[in-house]
Amino acid sequence: MTRRDIINDPAIGNKGEAYEAFDDISTNPHLGRTIGDVINARYGRRDVLRGALGVSAAATLFGTSALIAPTQASAAPASRYAFEELVSGNDETHHVAEGYDAQVLLRWGDPVLRGAPEFDVMNQTAAAQLMQFGYNNDYVGFVPLNDAGTRGLLCVNHEYTNEEVMFPGLGRQDRAGFEGMTKALVDMEMAAHGGTVVEIAQMGGAWKVVQDGKMNRRITPLNTQMTLSGPAAGHARLKTRDDPAGTKVMGTINNCAGGMTPWGTWLMAEENFHGYFWTDRRDADGKADLTDHADAASKKRYGVPGGWYAWGKYYDRWNIDAEPNMPNKYGWVVEVDPMDPTSTPVKHTALGRFRHEGAETTVAADGKLVVYMGDDNRFDYQYKYVSDGVVSDDKFANADLLVNGTLYVARFDPDGGVVWLPLVHGSGPLTAENGFGDQGDVMIDTRLAADLLGATPMDRPEDAQPRGDGTAYVMLTNNKRRKETNAANPRAASDFGHIIEIKEDGGNHSAVTGTWSILVKCGDPELAEVGAHWNPETSENGWFASPDNCAIDADGRLWVATDQGSKWGKTGKSDGLYGVETEGAARGTSKLFFRCPVGGEMCGPYFTPDQQTLFLAVQHPGTDGTKDLKGFARASTFEDPATRWPDFDPAMPPRPSIVVVTKQGGGKIAV
Ligand code: FEO
Ligand code: CA
Repeated sequence: MTRRDIINDPAIGNKGEAYEAFDDISTNPHLGRTIGDVINARYGRRDVLRGALGVSAAATLFGTSALIAPTQASAAPASRYAFEELVSGNDETHHVAEGYDAQVLLRWGDPVLRGAPEFDVMNQTAAAQLMQFGYNNDYVGFVPLNDAGTRGLLCVNHEYTNEEVMFPGLGRQDRAGFEGMTKALVDMEMAAHGGTVVEIAQMGGAWKVVQDGKMNRRITPLNTQMTLSGPAAGHARLKTRDDPAGTKVMGTINNCAGGMTPWGTWLMAEENFHGYFWTDRRDADGKADLTDHADAASKKRYGVPGGWYAWGKYYDRWNIDAEPNMPNKYGWVVEVDPMDPTSTPVKHTALGRFRHEGAETTVAADGKLVVYMGDDNRFDYQYKYVSDGVVSDDKFANADLLVNGTLYVARFDPDGGVVWLPLVHGSGPLTAENGFGDQGDVMIDTRLAADLLGATPMDRPEDAQPRGDGTAYVMLTNNKRRKETNAANPRAASDFGHIIEIKEDGGNHSAVTGTWSILVKCGDPELAEVGAHWNPETSENGWFASPDNCAIDADGRLWVATDQGSKWGKTGKSDGLYGVETEGAARGTSKLFFRCPVGGEMCGPYFTPDQQTLFLAVQHPGTDGTKDLKGFARASTFEDPATRWPDFDPAMPPRPSIVVVTKQGGGKIAV
């Protein structure tokens, strides 16, 4: 499939989907061909899912282990998630478990800075957007500003934009050769990316935005200057015309998930950065000509230039013909101090360069800072970073913890062991002979370094969440292109994903060895050929597909948010938030707590420290897979969307929004 085929595929509902499909052209060269090819060639995946294949055929194709019923528990185990679960399904609006309120707190376009104009969707400008809440809210973090936790700063990533439902009369522009795009629209897109810091407070029993909050801030790729720290800062491969020293960069892009540090700063993970880079040198299939690029192998491994936005038509910095090193300034983890709106965000190159899904932190038993990070691409890797120093109570003493440390990549062994392999220049194959001149090269080309170390190619590592006891949960979302299975990625051609639990040796997150097991294999447990594995106490509403974001609450319980993209028609379920038990006899059960409106992806989730408030983010409502919505059955546009959530105003398109969930009458959630 060529790039042009993907762009024009009518089954691809929106830009995020297109990115995923682009990932199908694997950039990891360390892969072979196996039985999965045969499955795909002989039987359509849809036939398999519909049960068109008999059990014996499915057993031949998927292996008998997929058909063995899960172990029967002797008695129904008690659930620690005290709520009545929702009925799964998909419709125009959101749903939350009975006894809870779900209030829409912030929508795309809502004023967040002092003096910001009200949102006027028909007359939007970049200047207005720079003062308003951005698009496609993904990560949500919260910094309490008082002891009671009733006032605080919300930190929100704005991952990408969907021009077909943001702007009147455009439709999908990558399909149209971007002919409808203008510099004004591009500036609006750039202004809608990045992040927002906004003060919120509980007033009269409800959370409200404090629009004149002193710390309120928009961060964007259009106008937020940043610096680079660590081994790649100042590297020759980071030098650009606007920055001959290679130490600074304008803005951040495709900020997906993230994390908060123990000292209250906010980590924004740059994910599909490749999609923003442009070239005018493409062949008839749309393939980029990289012959003039000394680092062509690196660009190829990272999928640069993706060409999914027209920004490079108007800005040299997004055009690799003019600025071949610029892509090396993206794909990092950005640290922002939300308490100081004048602070300069820092891209920490010691945490590696890849399609960072998230950056969730914990303090290891030995006091070091540990950050778990997935590289969200089919067949890419799970990473963690361990600081050299230990975390201090003094915020400013922690400044170098994300600068000096070691990045590791995971090898999941068939015996249940996990080995964290250090990405250190000069050790093992990471030498000048293999193209790594120094540690800066190792960080800029993290993927190439991890390839040489023999890391385990995974089924799209999304969020990974550590818990204080040395456990971490890794969300693997799906991989329909997997041919060779391995122990940690046991299903070929799976649309449904799985969750891995890691137990670090000694309960210490900084350990370089540990053990792993599979918590659940996702998908419909009633369809044997899907090969799902859940605790049998999980109801028909409780199982899910495509785990993506996740959180651990104050009681140590795991919550999982899903993103099935346009494939939700295969489950008939919207994306949502589920409580997934990790302990005892109920391990592997799951309960549905919140449902997204159609076409939306479930992001956040983030609990306040008192566990009485849960922040959720509904990203790109009304876009994904709307062809499968009964009564709609077509792609959404600005004029004709599948839903107008959350306003349901005929003059307003759907708006990505933050939802606040609280228990009616107060109290801890799901307790
Ligand atoms: Fe932006 Fe991997 O989700
Ligand atoms: Ca995600």
